[in-house]
Order: sequence, then C-alpha cells, then structure tokens
Amino acid sequence: RTVYLNGEYLPETEAKVSIFDRAFLMADGVYEVTSVLGGKLIDFEGHAKRLERSLNELDMPKPAAFDDLLEIHRELVRLNGIDEGMIYLQITRGAPGDRDFVFPDPATCEPTLVLFTQNKPGLADNPVAKKGIKVISIEDVRWGRRDIKTTQLLYPSMGKMMAKKAGADDAWMVEDGFVTEGTSNNAYIVKGNKIITRALSNDILHGITRAAVLRFAREAQMEVEERNFSIDEAKEADEAFVTSASTFVMPVVEIDGVALGDGTPGARALRLREIYLDESR
Ligand code: PDD
Repeated sequence: RTVYLNGEYLPETEAKVSIFDRAFLMADGVYEVTSVLGGKLIDFEGHAKRLERSLNELDMPKPAAFDDLLEIHRELVRLNGIDEGMIYLQITRGAPGDRDFVFPDPATCEPTLVLFTQNKPGLADNPVAKKGIKVISIEDVRWGRRDIKTTQLLYPSMGKMMAKKAGADDAWMVEDGFVTEGTSNNAYIVKGNKIITRALSNDILHGITRAAVLRFAREAQMEVEERNFSIDEAKEADEAFVTSASTFVMPVVEIDGVALGDGTPGARALRLREIYLDESR
C-alpha cells in the first residue's frame, strides 16, 4: 500500500514519524475519515471544511490547501486502486524536538500530514446492515469539545470493548440521562414518521453523514426533530440507527438488551441507507 507523508507518496513500511511527534506523546492531532464508493470520494468538501474548523479551534497550522488535499486523496485512491473503502487523514502539531505542554511556536511548527487508504470491498452491501447492530449504553466521560475531531480516541475504544464484552456491537454514550452519540457515529431514534437526533453543540461531533442523512430524510417527507432523547425513550422507539462515514446508515435493533420493534432493522433506517447509497454512488 502506498501512503502519503509530508509531501511524499511512499510504501507504508518507509513512512516514518518522529517519536517526539505531539500526536504520539499528547494526542495533539486531528483527523478525518472520508469514504470511497465506486472510486469516488463521498462528501469531500464537508470533511475538508470540518478539518479546517478542527485546526482553527486548536490553533494548529494547516499544512496544505483544499485543492492539494483533494489531489492527494484522489492520487491515493488511484495508486491503491480503491473502489470501496476509506481514506484516513491526520494532521498533528509535529515534533518540536522535546516534550512540552506548551504548543510550539506556530511560525516554526512543522505539522505532520499523513494519509492512508483502507480497502473495504463490500462496504456498501455490508451484510451487517441487513441484520442491524446491538448497542449498550455507557456513561459519556469524554472531554467537553467533542465537536473537534481529535485523535483522543481512548474512551471510544474502551466503549467498543465494553460493548464486545457485553455481547453487543457498539455503545451509545449518555450524559445527564441523554444520549450524546455512538463511540464513532451519530445516534438517532425513530418514532412514527419522526427522526429524532441530538442537536449540534460542543457535546457531539458534527457528522458529515448526519447532515446528508437529515437532508435526505426531509426530502423523503420524514419529520426531523433535533433534540435530546434519553436512553429510556430510545428503548421505546420504533427504530434506531447510527450514521458515519464508515457505516453510512446502520440500523440499531437492540439497546441494553431491549429489542426495538420486532428486533429487525426498521423501514425508515433501511430507506435512508438506500437513499444515501444511491445519492453517493
Ligand atoms: N467517526 N461521532 C463520532 C464520535 C465519530 O467519531 C464520528 C465519525 C461520527 C460521524 O461523523 P461522520 O458522519 O462525519 O463520519 C460521529 C469516524 C468514521 C471514525 O472515527 O472512524
């Protein structure tokens, strides 16, 4: 596999980053995951804009312009022959040469820009989407700026492990009784014709897939309600689902062991998945 590191396309075994890189020492980095379907990038512009916002919020220098980033994405898709899969992009504050809590001077700071591809044949026709996933609820103990897409992913990883141990697939995080989001996706419940999902704030990541799916839902005459919902309300919902660049729209069929409806993927979740894939391909 060919990867990209600071201006160069290299075999993955030759791409090397300093042990002093602040991502390695302090998780001082931001990232984006863009999906590829039929060799085409999905919602690149949305991901690029959110990346810019994450960088600004952290006073991190931007190592490449929009057009350059687009070109690198396209070149990696071509070089690695990706038809279905993902591109991971990470920018970190680089390696100032010593460990220090203080940010390096932006004038001399050399950010690290890394991109690699993940080949995932069958991503669109994922058999898991036909069965749906089971989630458990866990306390959301992450920091207060979840709107910034940083590489601090230890708690989401722990959440997935807690889910696996409990025989489930993923976890929904709960704060003050209300669901924030999934470990790596936005969370939704469906009641009748209504799609309910938490409103945007610093409490959740502003999902690029979320924006597209809410638009498609409105176009398909579904009602959209952006508000908090509790885990108890979720357990009584007709359907539930999650969205992300890596899963698109994924039906949720069980929450904390309680089956939703008849325990199979809901009609609206499946319809939104179909619309999303049709519009993206
Ligand atoms: N995760 N919420 C969280 C906490 C996420 O990590 C993600 C994405 C989302 C969905 O955002 P989007 O629709 O823009 O992918 C919501 C990516 C896929 C990941 O970490 O792999």
